[in-house]
Order: sequence, then C-alpha cells, then structure tokens
Amino acid sequence: MKIVVAGTGYVGLVTGACLSHAGHYVTCVDIDENKIELMKKGISPIYEPGLEELLIENYEAGRLNFTTNYKDAYRDADVIFIGVGTPEKADGSANLSYVFSVAKQIAQSIEKDCLVVLKSTVPIGTNDEVEKYIRESLKNNVEVELASNPEFLSQGTAVKDTLNASRIVIGVESKNAEKILREVYERFNEPIVVTNRRSAEMIKYASNDFLALKISFVNEIANLCEVVGANIEDVTKGMSYDIRIGDKFLQAGIGYGGSCFPKDTKALHWLAENNGYELKTVKATIEINENQKFRLIKKAKKRFKSLEGLKVAVLGLTFKPGTDDLREAPSIPNMRILLDEGAVVSAFDPVGAENFKKIYPERINYVDSPEKALKDADLVFIFTEWKQIREIKLERYRELMKTAVIFDGRNCYSLDEAETAKVEYYSIGRKNITDPNPIYGLSEAAAAKEQ
Ligand code: UDX
Repeated sequence: MKIVVAGTGYVGLVTGACLSHAGHYVTCVDIDENKIELMKKGISPIYEPGLEELLIENYEAGRLNFTTNYKDAYRDADVIFIGVGTPEKADGSANLSYVFSVAKQIAQSIEKDCLVVLKSTVPIGTNDEVEKYIRESLKNNVEVELASNPEFLSQGTAVKDTLNASRIVIGVESKNAEKILREVYERFNEPIVVTNRRSAEMIKYASNDFLALKISFVNEIANLCEVVGANIEDVTKGMSYDIRIGDKFLQAGIGYGGSCFPKDTKALHWLAENNGYELKTVKATIEINENQKFRLIKKAKKRFKSLEGLKVAVLGLTFKPGTDDLREAPSIPNMRILLDEGAVVSAFDPVGAENFKKIYPERINYVDSPEKALKDADLVFIFTEWKQIREIKLERYRELMKTAVIFDGRNCYSLDEAETAKVEYYSIGRKNITDPNPIYGLSEAAAAKEQ
C-alpha cells in the first residue's frame, strides 16, 4: 500500500513517521523546500520527543521519504492523508484554504483510484465538500472517496499518543473505505470506532471542547475558591476519586493555550451559531479562558499598584511544558501588559525563547537559566510549569530576588512550602501567602546572623 501524507506539521509529520514505523511505505509532502531538506537530514522541523529517532530510522530503512513534488507523490498513491493546518479566521471559523489547496493538487495529480483521508480538524460537513470538490476537479478518470480520521495527539507526547492512541476514529461512507483504513491501522493495537464522516468530524470537536470545558470549569471553581476560602488543589483531589470525574484535566491555572483548544472551541461555537444554535457551554468556556489569562497580572497590579520600572522575572513562555510552541500561550498577552506598564523583564524558557524572540525581539532580557531571571527581581511570574522551574526550591527565590513576590500561574508549589520559605506567594484558587514581617533578599551575612 502506498501512503502519502500532505503537510509536515504536528499532525502530518507524526502520522507519516508512525505509519512508516508500523511498516508502511510513506511519502511526506510539503511545499516548504527547507523543511523537506531538513527532514532528509534527519532533523525534525518541530520539537517533539521521539520524532527525530523515528524519522531517521524509517528514512534509513527506505520506508519514509520526503518531497515537495506532490504530483509524483500523489500520482499512484493508494491512500493520501491530509494533515495540514486549519487555523482560526478572524470570525472564529476554521480556515480551510490549505485543505482545499491540497485537494486541488490531489484532483489534478491522481492517476489511480484513491482514498483521501482528512486528518486535519475540520468543521462538520467538510469531508462531503472536499469529496465533491475533488470529484468535480479530477483530471483523470479515477474513483476517489473521502474518509475522516481525526487525530487526538497532544504536543510533547505526539509520538506516544499516536503509537498508543486511546482510540482510532474512522468516519466512512462505504465498506471499502473502512476496509482500507482498517488495513492501514492493522498493526496498531488500539480500539477502532467506525462511524459516518460527520460523526467522526464531530467526535474531534466534541472531545477537544469537552476537555477545554473541563479546564474552564475548574478555573472558575478555583476563582470561587479564592473568594470563599477553599483550596482548589484539595477540591479537585476530592472530586477525582469519583471515577466518573477522573483525575485528569483538573489542573487550575492561567488558562489553556495551544494550537487546538482555543481554535476548536471558537470553530465549534461559530459552526453552531451559523446553524442557528447557541452552544452555551462552549461560549462560557471561551469567555472564562479569556479572563483567566489575566488573573495573575491583575493580582500583581493590585499588589504593586504600578509595575513601572520594576524588575520582573518571567519563568516559562510556551503554552505548556514539553513543546516550543507558543500558539495562544498566556505568556504572550501578559508580556504585552508587562512591557506596556514599563516593567524591566528577564525571561527564561528552556526551549521557547527563540520563538518568543520573534514576537518580542526587543526590551526583554532572555536568559538561559531561571536563576539568572530571578536575580534581583522585584517579582516573578510563572507561566509554564517546566520541570526545570518546578524544581527550584522556594528558598532560592528568596536568596536571589530583591523581594520574593511570586505569582504562580500553574500552582507549582504547595502553600506549606511557601509559608516555610517565607516568600510572598500568589497562586490560582488558593489563599495568598503574605508574610506580615517578610525577610526578603537576605544577604549571606544577614542569613548567617539569622541562623
Ligand atoms: C490538545 C488535546 O489534549 C489533544 O487531545 C488534541 O488532539 C489537541 O489539543 P495540546 O494542545 O497539545 O493537546 O495540549 P494539552 O496537553 O491538552 O494542553 C492544552 C492546554 O490546556 C495547555 O495550555 C495546558 O496548560 C492547559 N491545561 C491542561 C490546563 O490548564 N489544565 C489541565 O488540567 C490540563
């Protein structure tokens, strides 16, 4: 079976690498020459644990190839996966121009019957439209059919999530398409859910939007915990013992980011509205998340009145640990506020700083260790819970900072730790730790005297 994958972003490249790992012959197509050359050298254009190893192993074994020549690649393909981006348009709807541009290339190139599989997250009904479009634009007299096969991978664990997926969803309108996709996934020991194309498209949105809803719900409860004197960590722990609730995706913080939740909530909300239905839960999910991003900075502005001239350390820039992706990262709008307020910012992120520099090239001192960012700072924001950041003992903040005032957007530390370390500590959904007689920034001599 000859498989071609269009698009070498998170979805396409991981799909291509994992399918070749399962023994298929796979060609990955992208319009970007530089990316293709990099991948041929075994260099992954995205930061994803385990991906480079798969690229090298399968390229060397001759099962995986990369090309910009889509005509050659599509010509005799049995199955073509489309894994290109569907970014958000200004009105919140999904931009399908990349999907249709690949569809056009497919229609003009295929010379034999072929199954086209849409992996990109697309609005309900898109498979029908793409199928119609390809059939109407075909250059040669061949049969073509569309199937929906959404992906459920998370960034940072994409390879693992694909090789050990919770489920494979196949949306088909014919037995033949089902048979081909079952064959593609033969070596994947994972449950397969077969349904029609529209349901498969909806499974993807409903899954992502439900997870986003879970996060927004917890964040809202966290905000209420602060008002009524409860502790969100204890609350979610208590909830999690109910297996109907579970213990995943209950982490309160400064909101979700990334390439999926923000875009997919807006896209489904838009789709519902466009069909005359108001999706209230999803609407609330989006609104809560928008406000949640600014919870911490509001606390900081209340505490300091003005941030002008203050030395601010920022720890973590990416939307979550384990990725260099900054899409919709809460750090981005927060940084804008910090700079507009006239703060003097030092920022640390283990892998995200290079990409962040493209957004904020000036006025930020990018440093290569959390300690360097904390040195002499008046306050610190934790935006991403990287291991390197969680591992810093709170005492170090006190030693390094001018005044150890910590705004932790990911609840990296326990309140007990904060109390013992005598730092001023603001987090999400928990009481503030404010020492009435704080001993900040002890010099070595003063610390020795205190002992
Ligand atoms: C998500 C889905 O998990 C995945 O199934 C889908 O295919 C793509 O979208 P991803 O965007 O890579 O994956 O990241 P995820 O780990 O889900 O985190 C998304 C955001 O939610 C992050 O900003 C994270 O910090 C936040 N989050 C997650 C919380 O705030 N609390 C949680 O409990 C979990």
